[in-house]
Amino acid sequence: MSAMPEKNTMPTGEAHENGTVFDPTSLEGILEKYRGAKGALIPILQQTQASYGYLPRPAVGRIAKFLKVPESKIYGVATFYAQFHLHPRGRNIVRVCLGTACHVRGGEGILDAVSDELKVKPGETTPDLRYTLERVACLGACGLSPAMMVNDTTYGRLTKKKIAEILKKYE
Ligand code: FES
Repeated sequence: MSAMPEKNTMPTGEAHENGTVFDPTSLEGILEKYRGAKGALIPILQQTQASYGYLPRPAVGRIAKFLKVPESKIYGVATFYAQFHLHPRGRNIVRVCLGTACHVRGGEGILDAVSDELKVKPGETTPDLRYTLERVACLGACGLSPAMMVNDTTYGRLTKKKIAEILKKYE
């Protein structure tokens, strides 16, 4: 007896965490490319994240069904690799360095200042999805410590006073 074709049982119209409605169209396109392929989990997760900006919960459920693996396996992989995000990310990623050089030059104070300015803690995203704040171990700009990056731009020799001015550029 041949196997029944897999049915798409993913609920449509389920809301994203950010309040928008999850549209499965691009996910279905991604999955179709990997039908019957081995070792497809990571590339499917990468492409899903590239498409949605993160791994929405309904997408994880659909991928689990498609690959016939428990959702817990997908969450395990997604949390193991730093490249995957299970929550929506901000349009601007602010990375404050707390590596040794930055730490001794007041990195913690800079992180507090950014956190106060954005009103989020490290690891969080502002409700308007404008910023995600992260702490990192070294940005490779130790000579400019204390340093932070906003998207691809590095800002060095930071003072608390400079923070608001820098962040304003990304409003
Ligand atoms: S320790 Fe901060 S850039 Fe290296």
